[in-house]
Amino acid sequence: MTDKVRVELGVRAYDVLIGHRLLERSSDFLKPILNRSKVAIITDETVAALHLGSLVNNLSQSGISWDVLKLPAGEATKSWNYLTHCVDWLLNQRIERQDVVIALGGGVIGDLVGFAAAILRRGIRFVQIPTSLLAQVDSSVGGKTGINARQGKNLIGAFHQPSLVLVDISVLETMSKRDFLAGYGEVVKYGLLGNAPFFDWLEKYGLALVQGDSGARAEAVRTSCQMKADIIARDETEKGDRALLNLGHTFCHAFEAATGYSDRLLHGEGVAIGCNLAFELSARIGICAQEVPSRVRAHLKAMGMKVDLSDLAGSLPPAKEFFELMMHDKKVIDGQLRFILVRDIGDAFVATNVEPDSVLNIISESLSIKR
Ligand code: GLY
Repeated sequence: MTDKVRVELGVRAYDVLIGHRLLERSSDFLKPILNRSKVAIITDETVAALHLGSLVNNLSQSGISWDVLKLPAGEATKSWNYLTHCVDWLLNQRIERQDVVIALGGGVIGDLVGFAAAILRRGIRFVQIPTSLLAQVDSSVGGKTGINARQGKNLIGAFHQPSLVLVDISVLETMSKRDFLAGYGEVVKYGLLGNAPFFDWLEKYGLALVQGDSGARAEAVRTSCQMKADIIARDETEKGDRALLNLGHTFCHAFEAATGYSDRLLHGEGVAIGCNLAFELSARIGICAQEVPSRVRAHLKAMGMKVDLSDLAGSLPPAKEFFELMMHDKKVIDGQLRFILVRDIGDAFVATNVEPDSVLNIISESLSIKR
């Protein structure tokens, strides 16, 4: 069975198709959007070794010709150098304005290829085939594309919506437990920001997800994509509600910067710690009942996730330095930090007047806490 989530964006509307073994049937979904029987695929070397075969066998059997560019795996690929490389390669392949580029990979490939598609010939179509949980529930949907700058992550980019997102749940079977749990940080975020019944469901089925229950995985991905699609339809370019998707991210971006964007802290792990601290902060300033953060913390711990800065190995800077890193966040307006805070599970909102001392205290406690 294939589930469909529609991202309602008028002339730029598209489907997110979710199901099992979709890569082996990819031509069925691609053919309706192709103007000629040719695609360009950009992927990374790790994903290519695992999943490229299923995709291209099916394309060849269906008479669709393809060319592939394989890039090194890892965050460093989201750079000017590889953007130039992608665009050069696509031009050399004589990819025309009506053609389609496929981004096969996790968030790095999706963001990079989406941005290359946004600027090539003033915008060509692209299809996202996300291969990590994080990309399936978050980065492949919504059209945020871009690369990293020397000055920070995701500072160069464009909104460019894909024409189709193909989410093959079966590819998650090849993910490591750590990477899967990092993606789960983004899944749980949806329950926390706007869907309390989904959080209840995750409390029941979260462990089944990690243990490989494919039905539960499909359900969690579908619910997450539906929530994201609904938010994008209301606010494509983050003028309002879309900011709620950044729950936990203001903290997370500072943690990632402080740990050098290394594998000491994966993005989704930072999101989970950040969500935990957003609840702690909301309770501390009296907008959320005191017992709510304990429930969030208990669920993340039951899943085997990191919940505090003290869960990270190695030394970390003092709380003040984290706060300074937060002040470089894209969400700072007129020197005021905007936080996504919560009134309860499933009830997030944008707050602009948070006292720096409250934030500093929460970070200090998270650095020293031993539970
Ligand atoms: N990952 C947040 C967003 O797409 O807006």
